[in-house]
Amino acid sequence: MAVEPVVYGASERPPRGDYARANADYTCAQDWAAYTAQDHDTYRRLYERQSAQLPGLASEAFIAALPSLGVKDHIPRFEEINERLYRATRWEIVAVPGLIPEVPFFTLLANRKFPVTDWIRTPQEFDYIVEPDIFHDLFGHVPLLFNPVFADYVQRYGQGGLKAHALGACEMLARLYWYTIEFGLIREPGGLRAYGAGILSSSGELPYSVQSPEPQRLPLQLERTMRTRYKIDSYQQTYFVIDSFEQLFQLTEPDFTPVYERLRGLPEFAAHGPLAQAA
Ligand code: PHE
Ligand code: FE
Repeated sequence: MAVEPVVYGASERPPRGDYARANADYTCAQDWAAYTAQDHDTYRRLYERQSAQLPGLASEAFIAALPSLGVKDHIPRFEEINERLYRATRWEIVAVPGLIPEVPFFTLLANRKFPVTDWIRTPQEFDYIVEPDIFHDLFGHVPLLFNPVFADYVQRYGQGGLKAHALGACEMLARLYWYTIEFGLIREPGGLRAYGAGILSSSGELPYSVQSPEPQRLPLQLERTMRTRYKIDSYQQTYFVIDSFEQLFQLTEPDFTPVYERLRGLPEFAAHGPLAQAA
C-alpha cells in the first residue's frame, strides 16, 4: 500500500525517500543489495570521521555502545544489528523511506521499534544534510538504544506521543524530543558531553555544542523545554543539560496532561533564548 511522503518543517524540496514501497505502518524492507559502492564508501567515511572526534565530546554511554553497531566499513544490515539490540534491550530497528507522520512514528517507538531511514546522503552532502539519512539514524540514535534506561525513555516517549496526539499537544512534546533525543547534553564526571543524535552525527555541531561559548546551556526543565522553539537548519542556540539518563527518565515520568494545560496560554521562548511573541 502506498503512503504519503512526509516533509520536515517547511521545505520547498521534494521528499527524498521512495514512499511507494512502504507498508501501511510506513516500514519497508532494507534493500541492502541496492546500495552502491559509493553509498558504502560514504558511510565508511562518515563513520571514520565522526568516531575519531567522540572522545571528550560524546557521552561515555554512547562511546561504550557504539561498537555494538558492528561493521563500520560499509552500511550494516539491519538484521545483524537487531540480533544484538534485541538481546540487549528488546528494541529493534525497522527500515523506513524517510520521515513518517506522528502517529505511526509514536506507535513504532511505543512498540520498541526504532525507524531508520534506509538511504544515504550523496557525497556532496557529506558535511551537512537537513533531513535524517541512514548515517544520522544509525550512528546517532541506535547506540543509546543499547542503554537500558535510555531505551526505556524512548519507549515512554512514544507512548507519551500517542497521548499528546490525542490532546493536541504534539508541538510541545516534539520540543522535548528535539532538546533531549536529538540535541541533548549531559553533565558527566569528565565534563559536559553530547548524547543527542543530531549532535553525534554532525561533525561541526559536536564540538560546537560542547565547547563553543555562543549557545546558551540550561539545565533541562520540562516546561522551559516545551516552551522553546527550535531551528531545524542551523546549529542550536539553546541546549538543555541533564545529569543522568535516570534524571531524564524521572523528570518525564509524571502525567503531562496538566502540564500541557498550563503551558497552552503561555508565551514561547525563541530558539536563541528570549521570550518570543506567541505564534
Ligand atoms: N509522562 C509523559 C506523559 O504523561 C510521557 C512521556 C514520558 C513523554 C517520557 C516523554 C518522555 O505524557
Ligand atoms: Fe533523529
